[in-house]
Amino acid sequence: DTVQWSAEEAELGGFPHYMLKEIHEQPGRVADELRRVLRSEEGTVEFDSLAPHLDELASMRRFILVACGTSWHAALAGEYLIENLAGLPVEVECASEMRYRQRPFEEGTLVIAISQSGETADTLAATRLARQQKVRTLALVNVVGSTLAREADWTLYMRAGPEIGVASTKAFTMQLLQLTLLALWLGRRRGTLSRSEGRRIARALKAIPSRMQRILAAESRIVRLAKKYYRFTDFLYMGRQYNFPIALEGALKLKEISYIHAEGYPSAEMKHGPIALISPEFPSVFVIPRDALYEKNLSNLEEIKARNGPIIAIATAGDREIRKKVDDVIYIPPTLDCLQPLLTVLPLQLFAYHVALLRGCDVDKPRNLAKSVTVE
Ligand code: G6P
Repeated sequence: DTVQWSAEEAELGGFPHYMLKEIHEQPGRVADELRRVLRSEEGTVEFDSLAPHLDELASMRRFILVACGTSWHAALAGEYLIENLAGLPVEVECASEMRYRQRPFEEGTLVIAISQSGETADTLAATRLARQQKVRTLALVNVVGSTLAREADWTLYMRAGPEIGVASTKAFTMQLLQLTLLALWLGRRRGTLSRSEGRRIARALKAIPSRMQRILAAESRIVRLAKKYYRFTDFLYMGRQYNFPIALEGALKLKEISYIHAEGYPSAEMKHGPIALISPEFPSVFVIPRDALYEKNLSNLEEIKARNGPIIAIATAGDREIRKKVDDVIYIPPTLDCLQPLLTVLPLQLFAYHVALLRGCDVDKPRNLAKSVTVE
C-alpha cells in the first residue's frame, strides 16, 4: 500500500501558517478518501490494505484503542462509533497508562494503536506490550513507514498528507474518518447495520466535505468571536456522546497554541465540580448540535447560564431557540449524530487558531511542545 506525499504538500501554499493550511485541507482530504474507499451502493467500505485480514478483523469480539494527545481524543470518538455502529465493546486507553498496567488481554481482542507520527514512545510501548501478549495489533497511522506502521500486525493509513503544524488538525479529522469507516464496515459485515442503513451513512458521509467547506467559509464569524474572547484566561468546553471527545479536543487546541487554560468535560459532569468555577469571567464553549441528547445538553447549558457564565454554542443551523440562551452561536450544517465530530471540531480549531494569533503566539511552534514525542 503506497501513500505518496509530494513536495508541494509540505509547503505553505499562500497560507500564513501550516496550521491554517492544514485546517483548510480537511474537506479535500476527506473527499479524496471517501472517493477511494466508500462503496456507496452497498453502504460499506473497501479497505485495500486490510484485504488479506478482513475475515479475522470481522471475527474480533472487542477493541482496545490506545493513543496519546489528540489521537487519544479520536480514540474516544472511535469508542462511540464502533459501539453504536457495530455493537462491539470498546475500551480506550492512554498509552502512557496502558503500558504499565497488568491488564489481561482476552482472546479475540484487537488493539488499535492510533498515532499521527507512528513514533510516539508510549504508543509504541503499549503496542509492544499487546504483541507480547499475543494480541493482534492494528496501527492507524499517518506517517508512511513509521515505526508503529512497521511493528503492528496490520496497518491502516490515515491519508492526511504531511502535517507540519504541531497542533494536530487534519490528522485528527482523518483519524475520525478512518474510525467511522471502520465502524461502518464492521457494522455492515456483522449485520448490525442493514444495507439501507449503510447507504444512509454513506450518503451523509459524501455530504461531509461540502459541509466542512461551509464551516470554513464562515471563518470571519469565528475571527469576530476570537476578538471578543481572546482576553479571557479560562475556558470550559463541553459536549455529550460523540461530542464529548470534541470538547476535550477543542480545549486541547486552545491550551496548546494560545496558552489559555481550558478544560473539556462531558456536559453533565460539569455539575460535579467545574460549575463552581463559573462566573462572568469564565466562558464555556458548548458543543450542542441537534442530536439525540440535545435536550439533555440544553439543560446542562442552562445551568451555566443561571450562573452568568458567558456561553459560545456550536449548534445546528436552523436552531433559533439556542440563540436566546447563549451569548454567541457558531452554526454548523446538519448531519447524522455519528458524523457530527467531523464538523463540530472545525470551528473549535479555527477559534483556537485565531485566539492564538490575537495573543501573538507562534501557532505552528507552540512553546514546550513537539510534533512527536519519542521519549517517555
Ligand atoms: C504530541 C503532539 C500532539 C499529538 C501527540 C500524539 O504531543 O504535540 O499533537 O497529538 O503527540 O502524537 P501521535 O503522533 O502519536 O498522534
